[in-house]
Amino acid sequence: MSMKEEGPQQHGGLRDSIRRSVSPVRFIIFNLVIGGACLAVLSTSLRSLPKGGSPNVAVPGLDESDPELFWATVPPSPVDNLIWLPCYTNLQCARLTVPLDYADPDGPSATIAMAKVPSNYKKSDPRYRGPILMNPGGPGGSGVDLILLAKDIIQPVVGDEYDIIGFDPRGVGRTMPSILVFSDEAENTRWNLQRDSLPLLNSTTDALSKTYANAVVYGKLAEARTMHASPYVSTALVCRDMLNIVRAHGQEKLQYWGLSYGTVLGATFAAMFPDNVGRMVIDGVEDAENYYATLWSNNLVDTEETLDWFFEECIEAGPELCALYDSSAAKIKERVMRLLASIQKEPIPVVASTTLSSPTEYGIVDYALALRVLFVFLYFPYHTFAQTAPATDLAFALASAEKGDGVPLWNLQAAYIVQFKCSCSPAPPLPQPIATTAIMCSDGDPVEESIEEMQTLLDKIARDSMFAPLWPLHVVCAGWKIRPVERYNGPFVGNTSFPLLIIGNTADPVTPLINAHNLAKGFPGSVVLTQHSAGHCSVSATSACTILAIREYFRDGKVPQPGTRCEIESRMFTKTDFAYDNETWFWDLPEDEREAVKAWKKLTNTITPHHYGMLSAM
Ligand SMILES: *[C@@H]1O[C@H](CO)[C@@H](O)[C@H](O)[C@H]1NC(C)=O
Ligand SMILES: *[C@@H]1O[C@H](CO)[C@@H](O)[C@H](O)[C@H]1NC(C)=O
Ligand SMILES: *[C@@H]1O[C@H](CO)[C@@H](O)[C@H](O)[C@H]1NC(C)=O
Repeated sequence: MSMKEEGPQQHGGLRDSIRRSVSPVRFIIFNLVIGGACLAVLSTSLRSLPKGGSPNVAVPGLDESDPELFWATVPPSPVDNLIWLPCYTNLQCARLTVPLDYADPDGPSATIAMAKVPSNYKKSDPRYRGPILMNPGGPGGSGVDLILLAKDIIQPVVGDEYDIIGFDPRGVGRTMPSILVFSDEAENTRWNLQRDSLPLLNSTTDALSKTYANAVVYGKLAEARTMHASPYVSTALVCRDMLNIVRAHGQEKLQYWGLSYGTVLGATFAAMFPDNVGRMVIDGVEDAENYYATLWSNNLVDTEETLDWFFEECIEAGPELCALYDSSAAKIKERVMRLLASIQKEPIPVVASTTLSSPTEYGIVDYALALRVLFVFLYFPYHTFAQTAPATDLAFALASAEKGDGVPLWNLQAAYIVQFKCSCSPAPPLPQPIATTAIMCSDGDPVEESIEEMQTLLDKIARDSMFAPLWPLHVVCAGWKIRPVERYNGPFVGNTSFPLLIIGNTADPVTPLINAHNLAKGFPGSVVLTQHSAGHCSVSATSACTILAIREYFRDGKVPQPGTRCEIESRMFTKTDFAYDNETWFWDLPEDEREAVKAWKKLTNTITPHHYGMLSAM
């Protein structure tokens, strides 16, 4: 079994994998998990974002001839002689060779793909402060993609004494060996169509058993087709890889910034290597114990509250901005619930376009679709596209549906429908979401229980949230039998060599604030900063307070006062985005802090669920 990534691989070689990672947005299907974990039944795509959702922003680099092919020319290089080549625009790329299995250091190797915004200081310069590694979540999110998106944003926040590095964790994107369950696009599409036709959980008596059966088929395929790579995928292994990336920069302490699932990665690192923590920002905290137990049972604790923020902001915004405006937030909520109930009984047929060239512009707005649109929205309710915020569009879509017009709601999710075309490419398709499944299911305890027991768990989640039917991650993992060569599943405690900065939003749809406080208990000295906002992770809104705290933490090593609560500047309903330039307090900040705040605002408006690693599971 050769792990050499240069040769053709079992399912297409590096070239194919590269092609996959560069495939255009039509393949960016995301499911919702924590920032990304995902559900078989829950996929939708960036095209579903209002007003185009800036697909070009989602995968930068596409406009160049084919910069991704460049990866094949990056020599795999060892920790003591890591070779960086210029790539994309003003970035550097490298592929770090690490043992596939750390217990067998002389055995086959993996190569970790990395993109870096280089520091303006040389390694030998005393001002150089080493790399900050970033992970966008998922699991399954690509750190390289994140850097492509955020390359002009992170250094203004933390300073150019740092290298900013995004890497594709094992199983993801350009890191080798890659794992592919399906050999070509046609097979992948066929699978997706079958998966997407599964009934929403709880909507029929056999929905759960079908979802489970689907997971079993997928798990067996993965076992038959990916054993050269899948057992070498786990968060513990990625932690060792991260330590090697740090060492390749002549450092011993990790500086890290992780979102969503990236908090599991960070917490695992802090527990495995407490003496190697330099700085660590953990934002949008997933409950690591619950994650490693493969339960996924306490993510949705604050989801309804997040939805309530939408209703409340609608009232504040007034009838001009919010089409759902009514006498009270409670009244709006009641109307939306009535609408959902009505759609459940009587789905809305939609023919948005009758032209032959627009295959996805007709269909049925049913309960599952409406629920998904709402759920996706809750991840980034302040995101602004071009002129309007998604909240404005969502309110309009719901108000239209009340009147029997399902087109706007349909348009919000249009690309959820797999765009089946007979001209499927014979090359392997882009992000086969197996990365998400492989990481989360291999990390977790094996799920071996009856359908009845799974139903009981889902019913428990349903007591937290009506979005529970979109959250069958436990069931997805029940079909996954591959075990990783190494795994760490707790305890999540440690006397870290530097205190952690832990961030939670008041109303996060998938990583409730309580998780931040629970995690902090295990790591003495760590501090929780609360961002008073809805949305997933602090980046989903813009807050000068949050970003300046992060800046101070990295630059001066200062953790905020315990109990710090940051307000945000973003608004859900708006016609024009807010402008700092109009605020006097903003002009009272030193110039470098103003730059940090402005850079951050850009990130809020460009980061998408894709960057949180929301690739569909299975
Ligand atoms: C399924 O429906 C039952 C009966 O309405 C309900 O009690 C339960 O909470 C639901 N479970 C899920 C996962 O939605
Ligand atoms: C951290 O240090 C304290 C005080 O020395 C000690 O009681 C505790 O057991 C340590 N925790 C861990 C996880 O090592
Ligand atoms: C900022 O001020 C300018 C000039 O007074 C005004 O035109 C603009 O609309 C203001 N922007 C916002 C977002 O309030």
